[in-house]
Amino acid sequence: MSDITFDNRVAIVTGAGGGLGKTYALELARRGARVVVNDLGGGVDGSGHSSRAADTVVDEIVAAGGEATANYDSVSTPEGGANIVLTAMDSFGRLDILVNNAGILRDTSFAKMTTDQIDAVIDVHLKGAFYVSRPAFAIMKESGYGRIVNTSSPSGLFGNFGQVNYGAAKAGLMGMASVMAIEGVKYNIKVNTIAPVAKTRMTEDLLGPLADLVDPEQVTPMVVYLASEACELTHQVFSVGGGRYARIFVGVGDGWFAGQGVVPSVEDIHANLETIENIDEFIVPMNNNEEMALLYKALQG
Ligand SMILES: NC(=O)c1ccc[n+]([C@@H]2O[C@H](COP(=O)([O-])OP(=O)(O)OC[C@H]3O[C@@H](n4cnc5c(N)ncnc54)[C@H](O)[C@@H]3O)[C@@H](O)[C@H]2O)c1
Repeated sequence: MSDITFDNRVAIVTGAGGGLGKTYALELARRGARVVVNDLGGGVDGSGHSSRAADTVVDEIVAAGGEATANYDSVSTPEGGANIVLTAMDSFGRLDILVNNAGILRDTSFAKMTTDQIDAVIDVHLKGAFYVSRPAFAIMKESGYGRIVNTSSPSGLFGNFGQVNYGAAKAGLMGMASVMAIEGVKYNIKVNTIAPVAKTRMTEDLLGPLADLVDPEQVTPMVVYLASEACELTHQVFSVGGGRYARIFVGVGDGWFAGQGVVPSVEDIHANLETIENIDEFIVPMNNNEEMALLYKALQG
């Protein structure tokens, strides 16, 4: 199998001043990509800002013989998103890869969550991905090539106590990516998503004994693969961490069919719950119509 390289490719990695994003930026650059290292340079909760984080990573890339430029905008505003993409175009004249990675945490139980905590987290993770992806997608559509990698989380896809804001944003990203993937097919824009687990400043206090077994470097190859021309996959979500790589999917079971035109009683629902809940037989629809097909099948008997 030939080496995967990024000669003549330009990548944006958001939140690349540390943690997982830094590893992606370094590896993409090592393999030939010119990289926009975006980072606001704030704390884990998103407060504060500094140019140091992004600058340090750019320096490291340049010292290793690579090409990179820093951008300090926040992903969480339309202006910030536009400016990040503009940095790629102004500095390198093209854009092929976007890794939506920037993130913050404002954890607390749902009953105690403030409006600020909801807004801040949804603004960075979910709206941030919209704001950077939208101008990036437009350029990729024009050139007929693009690779977008989004960062969801097990907390969003499966749930985790104290992270309702984060979970909602991370699950929202999966919905965003599904539609972007479908719309990107025509233009050779592949859109995939990872749900990582790795020891970073964001998670070192949360992971317990697992922390020392989940190195961010173990996530990097999957993201770099999904960002490469070799990647023909789109519309996929992967669980990535500690050296394990696995597909995550949304499936729907065969279910229970009450009958064409039948309005079942509440008691009928209760009586048939076991069949409704059963997932022995299921499909993984890759668009709305594939799920509708199950209904048509039932309606046709
Ligand atoms: N580490 C894990 O186990 C884990 C698990 C699930 C999801 N994630 C996700 O992976 C991504 C990377 O997280 P990490 O673990 O490397 O944490 P991290 O805190 O080390 O990295 C996040 C980076 O994003 C930057 N950032 C924050 N807000 C920004 C903004 N508005 N604009 C630009 N940059 C901003 C931060 O300055 C920081 O450098 C995040 O989206 C996170 O939610 C991580």
